[in-house]
Amino acid sequence: MNTSNERPTDHGIIILDYGSQYTLLIARRLRELGAYSEIIAPSSPPPTSFQIHGIILSGGPDSVTSTDKTGIPEWVIRSQKPILGICYGMQLLVEHFGGQVRSNHHREFGHSTITLQTQSTTSAIGTLFSHLATEQKVWMSHGDDIATLTDQFDAIAHSDQGAIAIVAHQTSPYIGLQFHPEVHHTEKGSEILSLFLNDVCRTQLNWEPGCMVQGSIEAIRKAVGKGSVLMAVSGGVDSTVAAVLLNRALDPSQVTTVFIDHGLLRYQEAEQVRAYFQQLGVKNFVQLDCHESFLKALANVSDPEEKRRIIGHQFIEEFENFAKGHDQFTHLGQGTLYPDVIESAGHGSGSKVIKSHHNVGGLPEKLALKLLEPFRFLFKDEVRSIGNELGIPEKIIHRHPFPGPGLAVRILGPIDSEKITILQQADAIFINALKESGLYDEVWQAFAVLLPVKTVGVMGDNRTYQWTCALRAVCAVDGMTATVSPLPLDFLTAVADEIVRKVDGINRVVYDMTSKPPGTIEWE
Ligand code: XMP
Repeated sequence: MNTSNERPTDHGIIILDYGSQYTLLIARRLRELGAYSEIIAPSSPPPTSFQIHGIILSGGPDSVTSTDKTGIPEWVIRSQKPILGICYGMQLLVEHFGGQVRSNHHREFGHSTITLQTQSTTSAIGTLFSHLATEQKVWMSHGDDIATLTDQFDAIAHSDQGAIAIVAHQTSPYIGLQFHPEVHHTEKGSEILSLFLNDVCRTQLNWEPGCMVQGSIEAIRKAVGKGSVLMAVSGGVDSTVAAVLLNRALDPSQVTTVFIDHGLLRYQEAEQVRAYFQQLGVKNFVQLDCHESFLKALANVSDPEEKRRIIGHQFIEEFENFAKGHDQFTHLGQGTLYPDVIESAGHGSGSKVIKSHHNVGGLPEKLALKLLEPFRFLFKDEVRSIGNELGIPEKIIHRHPFPGPGLAVRILGPIDSEKITILQQADAIFINALKESGLYDEVWQAFAVLLPVKTVGVMGDNRTYQWTCALRAVCAVDGMTATVSPLPLDFLTAVADEIVRKVDGINRVVYDMTSKPPGTIEWE
């Protein structure tokens, strides 16, 4: 499960990504249900040394009516494995067996209600749905719908707009859903996915990330042999757990843990990270102080993607400089997560890169080191389970996530050291208040953002004209979707008062009320 592509288990569900923004969520939901799942592009060959229990065709932005659409790879049907088509995936499946799809007839976006008609089906797969509620709320997002089915498929549900919502094949283990079971707005989404896993794929729901620790240790030993790893850490949960895992797997003399302090960390964070690694017993910990080089490279840069690009580039340079003087390294260890890999790759035919994660790609080619990414196939909460299994203290495992580019993407517009100090102070007040009031663990991530907006205020008898600070706190499972934390108003007011009173440079505080989607968690 480490050098480039080895996976943590040898069986599970394969998801073909046709470019839906929800594809990662499908993987997420299946893992929550206990089925290991992996996303591949439709153009990829079937994975080798992996027992496929079922295949999911995701949604996507293409139209099945288009001549240059991405179709179903031949190997999928040939494999005779159970197939679940979702939205575009369902339409592909129906069309493959001779049905017809039409555009702009029953367009549906958002909430819809479907009605099941399972009593009329003679399909064994269709009758599996008979124990589900007849009326269900679902989440739709489609411009095309099914015009005609051949008699190989039964329609077993329709939407309130009249669109065919569920189809089941007469003889093969194939199901199609016009709606998205992976989106939590679909009331019975998890039940329907369970039905596919249990009754159609007959897969054992035994995926448990904590169980992979021993396997990971063996895989790391095998991959590194007598080599030596430069383990890059940010102080965040993922790279910290990865560093502990590597130190557990290898002789400590084989691992050098390198932490770059780019000067864009939270208040007193570098000291805290150093103390954590000491507490965790990680030997060979090196801290590189690179404040100046990062700040210089970022001078006068406003564009978010440009900031990310520069920071990624600067990380490479600093690691290169360090590695030059230490030619024993054979591997580069990173805490890269599955969403980073999928989101940065823009995996499917139409997936869009929303934000480029600098820790994906780039580094290995320049450094000529083999990549060691123990969590390349995992989600954040799965890494937390591994951290628990390794005995890492809760306060480290449950730290709020922090982005690699740090405060650079929380200071909107150009960055300078004065703004960094202002934001660090405001952020520390917010985070301390959350901890003191017992709310820190209730939110998934919380932070302050410095806006490039000055407003007029009054302090004492004087007019002020200072920056605005936004507070952001969200509830999430893995950061792919998020809702606003309903922090009490008196708590927020007290935090705002303290920030304006204590932080010279901020005279106004606002609370961000945007969910993800349509917002993202970070502002840049
Ligand atoms: P967004 O803003 O994409 O954030 O909704 C989702 C989660 O990812 C974190 N994030 C990053 N983490 N490098 C990282 O290591 C990055 O470039 C990056 N951008 C966002 C963000 O803090 C949130 O937890």
